[in-house]
Amino acid sequence: MIISGSNTQALAAALAAETGQQLASVEYERFPDGEAMVRVEEPGDRAVVVASTVSDEAHVELLQLQDAVREAGASEVVTVLPYMGYARQDRAFETGEPVSARAVARAISTGTDRVVTVNPHEEAVCDYFTVPAESVDAAGLLAGPLPEDLHDPLFLSPDDGAIDLAVAAAEVYGRGETDYFEKTRRSGTEVDIAPSDADCADRDVVLVDDIIATGSTMSESVAILDERGADRVFVTCVHPLLAASAHLKLARAGVEAVYGTDTIERQVSEVSVAPVVADAL
Ligand code: R5P
Repeated sequence: MIISGSNTQALAAALAAETGQQLASVEYERFPDGEAMVRVEEPGDRAVVVASTVSDEAHVELLQLQDAVREAGASEVVTVLPYMGYARQDRAFETGEPVSARAVARAISTGTDRVVTVNPHEEAVCDYFTVPAESVDAAGLLAGPLPEDLHDPLFLSPDDGAIDLAVAAAEVYGRGETDYFEKTRRSGTEVDIAPSDADCADRDVVLVDDIIATGSTMSESVAILDERGADRVFVTCVHPLLAASAHLKLARAGVEAVYGTDTIERQVSEVSVAPVVADAL
């Protein structure tokens, strides 16, 4: 039985269709003091809880779903974390800070037998869970919504950490060069992008990253591509968090289109990760 968090209903439905498992009925409610409550009907013996922890509230909701299915008698609980919140805080960057990814991973581990997540920022966060945890790779799916007529395409990642995603997307697309920029983060919302010597003039460029959060990384990259005479610029990512004015930033930067997957449900979530998650279940 698939049990969906409130933020992942479309993906949970796609996963149910992909695996042939049933979707449990879940109600999401609030007490008058604002505290959340979920109610899961008949989760079955093997419960697959699907929930992206896109907010602190979503974290609490996931813990409640895990507890509800155990309470209802599930003997096996698998937690699918399509997007794992706090994964980018994977070390204490300054003295006195927590390793937030480890803290949330430990909490999530208490309610499950196993975790499956999708393209975490660093693979190593899987080691923070105290139950078996694995990541699946949705990079190849990112080529899906791209137009077939890309001219002399260049698949570019904004930093070397995402080059594997760009390479995978290019491979599935079937043609195109790959390259990456160098990124230095100045603050939570500001980045410096140093161009590589990639030839961008008159080419269609596909920028590929694991996540678009504030949109600063992508919009700075688009500005450089503009300076270099790129033709159309498409932006794609696994996790379209698109916080605050991120979408506006990208539109103002002049991108042709933004694409993402349904690990986070947004208007741009054109690709479902259900097939790759289903393979891991
Ligand atoms: C960081 O290295 C990630 O791969 C992303 O590039 C980054 O988190 C995107 O954040 P933002 O959209 O806020 O620039």
